Amino acid sequence: MCGIVGYIGSLGGPLRPLQVVIEGLTRLEYRGYDSAGIAINAESGIEVRKKAGRVENLNALLEAEPIPEGKSAIGHTRWATHGSPSDLNSHPHLSPDSEVAIVHNGIVENHQELREELLAQGASFSSETDSEIVVHLLGKEFARIGDLEQAMRNVVKRLEGSFALVAIAHRDPDRMVAARRNSPLVVGIGEGENFLGSDVAAFVGYTKLAMAIDQDQMVVVTANSVTVSDFDGNAVEPKTYEVDWDVNAAMTDGFDTYMEKEIHEQPRAVVDTLLGRRSKNGELHLDELRIDEAELRAIDKIIVIACGSAAYAGHVARYAIEHWCRIPVEVELAHEFRYRDPVVNSKTLVVAISQSGETMDTLMAVRHAREQGARVLAIVNVFGSTIAREADAVLYTHAGPEVAVASTKAFSAQIAAAYLLGLYLAQLRGNKYPDEVATYLDELAQMPERMASVLEQEDAVKELARKMSDVESVLFLGRHVGFPIALEGALKLKELAYIHAEGFAAGELKHGPIALVEEGLPIFVIVPTPRRPLLHSKVISNLEEVKTRGARVVVVAEEGDTAVNDLAELIIRVPHSTPTLMMPLVTIIPLQIFACELARQKGYDVDKPRNLAKAVTVE
Ligand code: F6R
Repeated sequence: MCGIVGYIGSLGGPLRPLQVVIEGLTRLEYRGYDSAGIAINAESGIEVRKKAGRVENLNALLEAEPIPEGKSAIGHTRWATHGSPSDLNSHPHLSPDSEVAIVHNGIVENHQELREELLAQGASFSSETDSEIVVHLLGKEFARIGDLEQAMRNVVKRLEGSFALVAIAHRDPDRMVAARRNSPLVVGIGEGENFLGSDVAAFVGYTKLAMAIDQDQMVVVTANSVTVSDFDGNAVEPKTYEVDWDVNAAMTDGFDTYMEKEIHEQPRAVVDTLLGRRSKNGELHLDELRIDEAELRAIDKIIVIACGSAAYAGHVARYAIEHWCRIPVEVELAHEFRYRDPVVNSKTLVVAISQSGETMDTLMAVRHAREQGARVLAIVNVFGSTIAREADAVLYTHAGPEVAVASTKAFSAQIAAAYLLGLYLAQLRGNKYPDEVATYLDELAQMPERMASVLEQEDAVKELARKMSDVESVLFLGRHVGFPIALEGALKLKELAYIHAEGFAAGELKHGPIALVEEGLPIFVIVPTPRRPLLHSKVISNLEEVKTRGARVVVVAEEGDTAVNDLAELIIRVPHSTPTLMMPLVTIIPLQIFACELARQKGYDVDKPRNLAKAVTVE
């Protein structure tokens, strides 16, 4: 997730392109802040200024090295995915002849193949990014045919994955050409000037009239016109709309809070985490692998270390990895791991899960594990973070920046990444045949759609939260992969709404917690699919036990599961035929919405819960 901005116009004086783009980048910083950059189409040629770090670093550079004026400008604020956060990996990228510049948001899945093709033709690259490949292709095509629009059309047909691209060409200074697939792109329509952005926050201070660019469409923008077409060149009727958001609402995409926005971004976070993982011959690969494959084949134990929500994602990972790979998996809170003298050796794979990649407890546990001879694989969201750097292998979640302190989309992305790891190991160690791995990956690819269908039940869950806004205690019950989701549901409620909440393994109920159940106590029950009759019937029994003791039961159950029909105050349905192991990606969503809405009812700041920090960098 990166932010892109474009401006072209003849109004407001020669400094306007610079001013609009810098302002847009500042507003888009929530989409990424690893680097910022601008390119201006000046008379003397395209000029680029770019710098690692936040927009303020770019501003300092622009003071030291002022950029010439021009009629159009493009800008980018980066959330690193391919290549570390550095000046060289920053956007915009220039073609080798400096004729064309682009900014890119997305992930080009077939970048390796295209890179090899370009290298064979004598290209050399100055960055590690997938985006530089695109500008090489575009520069070559533009040099060949001299038409930026057609050149873009020809190039996007060669790209796989996700992209929102904006390009300018020195010899074609009166237009910007943009294209999108799977990454957002909107046009802002002004008078005598037009804008492009990843979202309306990029330009909402200048115009409220916007135009949505749909999947596999291109747009050519001049100071006075906007023309939309599909990738085959067929004209498309543009869809314009009035933006009724102020700047703050635009930054949260119309939601009142980042937490709500990030809950809704979860399908996207999972799509992005899955992108680009399969090579041409169908094999799965990780991002950075500094462990010999023979060593990975020889491991006889996995220990997942993490804290908080990341640890609950680790619990889900255990069910999947043990089932697919038949390797014993332990899950341990990172701060406990280090102090209990764990049995770890060179045949142990330690999997560290962390959104920030900077959690001190997890980092210390990683160091301890490595000192004991274990290999460490990190599942991390922030590119180039300390844990990612110190691990022997990295699998990045591509959730984009998570601004709200409590984890939502990073949690889902961690679970998706854990499935990928399980399938990778199953493939490598021969536990699953390639066609079996492919079937699981296909199922995984369907999960974002299933998640979106659960988000559609948001209103009913919010209504429930409003009805329960004065409750003092809530219990969550689950079995199998529903158990860590019960724990995560309780954690969300504690940290956002500051009320007592506990998650239990449903089978544990009769061993103690049932004593807590009294008239009116809300209990959420995550019900496994009836396709697992043994598990299902046990949870239904638990449900009946708490119901008869007067609990207010809320159920998360599969569509068509009639056994729950008369047992609950509200039934939230998750799609039928979701694979059991992948259920957590859908069952967590209502619990997040419930906690968020209940906290909002109490008037709390859900983005910044009291006493908590986004990255816990102390032990
Ligand atoms: C809960 C939450 C925390 C983090 C934990 C680990 O909503 O956000 O429990 O999951 O502090 O943080 P990372 O993943 O950055 O290591």
